[in-house]
Amino acid sequence: MVRLEDAMERVQDTLSPKRYEHSVNVMKKCEEYAAIYGADVELCKLMGILHDVGKELSKEEKVKYCRDNKIPIDEIELENPGLLHGKIAADMAKKEYNLPKEAQDAIIYHTTGRANMTIYDKILFVADSTSIDRKYENTDYFRHIAKEDLDEACIEILKFTIKDRVDEGKLLHINSVYALNYLLKEKNNK
Ligand SMILES: [Fe+2]
Ligand SMILES: [Fe+2]
Repeated sequence: MVRLEDAMERVQDTLSPKRYEHSVNVMKKCEEYAAIYGADVELCKLMGILHDVGKELSKEEKVKYCRDNKIPIDEIELENPGLLHGKIAADMAKKEYNLPKEAQDAIIYHTTGRANMTIYDKILFVADSTSIDRKYENTDYFRHIAKEDLDEACIEILKFTIKDRVDEGKLLHINSVYALNYLLKEKNNK
């Protein structure tokens, strides 16, 4: 696995200053939540700094990257190639930074979530929506719950993003629905 300082240096060379700053902010939130919820802090910081490394490719480049690297593209991703940046970042994180599987998966699903989310998935998903640069109307509320109950934070963020996309008439990725149903079922069975 790559050293954090080396990864940070390389990510800084790859991304625009604004995206790099967001990545550092997400890394800090990953560190905070890993400490609270007992996950591997170093690994969580690495997945935070690497989670958006595929984001600044153009739509065409994203589709080409996936085709060249044999990454499957589903119909919603083909319609909205921006969604592919998680899969691409995870592939880069594996090949160029030797990031372990559990952190690669968290990167793949950081925008949508998925059924059976792991602790790494949840930490990155919530960190990405609560980093200091996020300015949604309810970000402070998300930040507050995130420190108390990580599952509840995932539920609230998913509810917000799903509702927002529906209201704006945007396509919904099925993994977000799987994620919300999974977390609600878990909550009801507690
Ligand atoms: Fe992202
Ligand atoms: Fe992000």
